[in-house]
Amino acid sequence: MKHSKYSVIIVGSGVAGLYAAIKLSENVTLPDGILLVTKSQLSESNSRYAQGGIVGVLPENKKDSVSLHVADTLKAGCGLSDLNVVKFISENSRFAIQDLIEYGVNFDRNENRELTFTLEGAHSVRRILHAGGDATGFSIEKALVQKVQSDQSVSRNISIYEQTHAVELLVDSKRQCRGIIAFNEITREYETIYAPVTILATGGTGQVYKYTTNPSVATGDGLALAIRAGAEIKDMEFIQFHPTALSIDNDESRFLISESVRGEGAKLINKDGEYFMERYHEQKDLASRDIVTRSIYAEMKKTGTNKVHLDATLIPVETFKSRFPNIYASCLKAGIDVTKDYIPVSPAAHYCMGGVKTSVDGHTSLKNLYAIGEVACTSLHGANRLASNSLLECVVTAYELVNKLSFANLQNSEVIDDSIMSLIKLYESNEEEIRPEEYTDKYITAIKDTMWKNVGIVRDETSLLTALSDINKIATAFDLNKICSTAKEYEVRNLIYVAKSIINAALKRKTSIGAHYRSDSVECTEPAAQIIKERSDGSTVTA
Ligand code: SIN
Repeated sequence: MKHSKYSVIIVGSGVAGLYAAIKLSENVTLPDGILLVTKSQLSESNSRYAQGGIVGVLPENKKDSVSLHVADTLKAGCGLSDLNVVKFISENSRFAIQDLIEYGVNFDRNENRELTFTLEGAHSVRRILHAGGDATGFSIEKALVQKVQSDQSVSRNISIYEQTHAVELLVDSKRQCRGIIAFNEITREYETIYAPVTILATGGTGQVYKYTTNPSVATGDGLALAIRAGAEIKDMEFIQFHPTALSIDNDESRFLISESVRGEGAKLINKDGEYFMERYHEQKDLASRDIVTRSIYAEMKKTGTNKVHLDATLIPVETFKSRFPNIYASCLKAGIDVTKDYIPVSPAAHYCMGGVKTSVDGHTSLKNLYAIGEVACTSLHGANRLASNSLLECVVTAYELVNKLSFANLQNSEVIDDSIMSLIKLYESNEEEIRPEEYTDKYITAIKDTMWKNVGIVRDETSLLTALSDINKIATAFDLNKICSTAKEYEVRNLIYVAKSIINAALKRKTSIGAHYRSDSVECTEPAAQIIKERSDGSTVTA
């Protein structure tokens, strides 16, 4: 097996990973350079698909302030967010945005060249910056990729491994991370890579559910690595289901219809032609995501349908086309002219509020292992993420981590202890056979099905135990102790860890709060609509 060493390994090339790589390269002494590992291509990530935008709490937006943004975040998170983290991230929003602009992100501006702000659910003012209309994640990712690839002062410090999976963290007997074992899916070769700093920036877990807005890469890989290595994990019961994913019969894919479409005036409508959100919450279509999602769920149950519709004809045609060019085109491709037709939508798994427990500078419970972005849980989001806070969190936490690392000694130590050596030997001597592809496909489908059915928008103890039993059976059949032979097998392994983690957390939290809705909750009883009505004053519930 090949062995190599770097000063920093970054796993994942979304906004958090790329931004960290650039900042490290610019500000930190790196005797052995940075290695950026991505299982796909450099520009592919969950961040890339973020449409709505990024929160910018900026002084020129006179109606906004840090205290207002903090209050909105805490309220959406049902009081489970960490106040200090929320404040820190909000206070640093202006610097993060400034930095992104300097790196070449062209946020949308009006005819006077002023930044334009949109609105999303549970925000009390317009404060969300967007780029390319509805391609904010793509625009940020593109600017950062360009910097990593073409700016000599940055790129000279960064090596890039594409189509490469981090499959194990090297953790020694002192609970210290010393690097990774990587698997190249093209050559099928393993490599031991040492580094005094390993950063997980692997994104989310949406692929554990049958219906998700996330791309196929979102299989919770970093989370699974951290779980295997014994790092502390937090808040996994809080999965955000986005209310409006494009829902076409006989098509399992779920293209995101950004919340900012509702921010610009579209309204949810049921099969009887009623704008039903008025019955559920005073903020109507712009209530927080958990509430809108459960309202849709309740409407679908009530009307016996598997979708509702979004009336975007309320938005002037030209405004829609220029603000949401990708949504317009994608709907058209699916045979829906949004200027005339209602858009069929239903909720889909979108974001994991939980993750590897970290401080705001990415520190995990394992020494020298850091996590940033969706894989991390800084406790910014609490029980329900406020829309567009996540890209902001990626940038601010990456910045803070780099700040801390600028004081660190990033020399590799030559001493490798026995626990790491035996792990490496296991991979060196591996001669496992490839599991037949139909088996891995079968496991993936079974995981997604049971998670959607039993650990979805509404769950209870019985459904959670059913899911746990299903996942345990899959884990036994798959054999988690066996080394995998293909990239897909590693993804199955990772999905099993992620699924178990969500189910166990959901079993532990017996009361409903935020995105975690238990129909057997002591204080919240079925139907789902009832709890939504009960909470229509926007009050929070204590866990
Ligand atoms: C959206 O545009 O609705 C998604 C943005 C987000 O998840 O923050």
